Amino acid sequence: MSHSPRYDAMTERVKALYDRNRQKGTAPWCGHDYDFVCPSTGTYPFQWFWDSCFHAIVLARYDMDRARSEIRSLLRNQPDDGFVGHVTFWQREAFEEMLKEYSIAYRTPYLSDCIQPPLLAEALFAITRGDGGRSVLDELLPKVRRYYDWLDRMRDPDRDGLIAILQPDESGLDHIPKYDAYLGVTNPTRDEFTAAWQRAVGPYAEMQRDHDKMFAADAFVVEDVLVNTIYAENERVLGELHEEAGDQAGASTMRERAAKSVDSLVRKCWDAKRSLFFDLAGQAEKQLQVSTVTSLMPILLPSLPREMADSLVKHIADPDEYAAAYPVPSTALNEPLYLKPSDGRPEHDSKLLWRGPSWINTNWYIARGLRRHGHVDLARTIEDRSAELIEKGGFREYYDPYTGEGFGAHAFSWTALVLNMLADHEGIA
Ligand code: GLC
Repeated sequence: MSHSPRYDAMTERVKALYDRNRQKGTAPWCGHDYDFVCPSTGTYPFQWFWDSCFHAIVLARYDMDRARSEIRSLLRNQPDDGFVGHVTFWQREAFEEMLKEYSIAYRTPYLSDCIQPPLLAEALFAITRGDGGRSVLDELLPKVRRYYDWLDRMRDPDRDGLIAILQPDESGLDHIPKYDAYLGVTNPTRDEFTAAWQRAVGPYAEMQRDHDKMFAADAFVVEDVLVNTIYAENERVLGELHEEAGDQAGASTMRERAAKSVDSLVRKCWDAKRSLFFDLAGQAEKQLQVSTVTSLMPILLPSLPREMADSLVKHIADPDEYAAAYPVPSTALNEPLYLKPSDGRPEHDSKLLWRGPSWINTNWYIARGLRRHGHVDLARTIEDRSAELIEKGGFREYYDPYTGEGFGAHAFSWTALVLNMLADHEGIA
């Protein structure tokens, strides 16, 4: 089947990007081979959890073998308890200098001790399509299920179906302003952030990162709407995968868990006055009322009540909030804490992330959510503008929503999700 020149040109660009960012070798510390796409060779040479899931979803469009290697590499060092760290430092020794810049807690010298948004089931879904898919499903489904069981067991102590993050970067949205007040950040600079992060997360070391103690400290416990939307969607997908594998009991357990997660999101995180979703902070579950792209994420959920979906669409379509020339900004344009990347160069250079620019991974989720709820025109606008960003400025980490100028890492890998968005745009399966 022939595709449009636009789609074909993007495919070629993505292939070149993923060849360039490919990391392949054998790690002496575990004796295993690895083959994955790193987020960016300049700043992020290791295997990041949610990045890798996105990369597999893109690779599955044109190179299923590599897509499968990506997820096999991600799961290769999974401990028996099911946990998977947010970074696997496969080639750690080659980058000791760079590691001094990172503040990351280690479970082992090669595996971090944090989570990231759990889209592993979506990645498994993508790599189990087509030839040989069934045997990959049989091979990896038990490992993937163990990961979700770990989240359920370790990160949901109040048993409401929502998992908690224990430090800001576990959401993947490092410095997003919705956490400012909770963290006690009043003047968002890199230094203030580091100090606030240290106040919340520093004491975890003495607690030996024991989950009971970290939860009891209640220093940073957030039931994050982006994390939990992805969690609920992935529980649903995992239900489908169990079904496909012929495991009815597994399928119904996961469906029940998915329904519970969605129910709690709707009951606890929805603010009827502003008609947006907000994260819950602390054991008191206080809503963090800053409008960010997180607030829109539940549009992804097929079972979201219609009136909520319609309300979210109004925000997405509002030029004062999210309908920028290059949507969807990570923080609403009319939030006082919105940071224009081109205005905030000093802040930008010191890398405060997710305070305004548009990112392609959240665009991919939101455009799909809009399609699911029948808002195809709006989805098409986001898909088209996203592609334009890459066509004009290459695969950058994030973009100015007004001008489309690219910022952050160059040759940034998950931005290639734009290929999947173009496929949806053009009705390519
Ligand atoms: C930044 C992002 C995070 C991502 C990582 C690697 O820290 O905020 O979400 O996983 O870079 O790309």
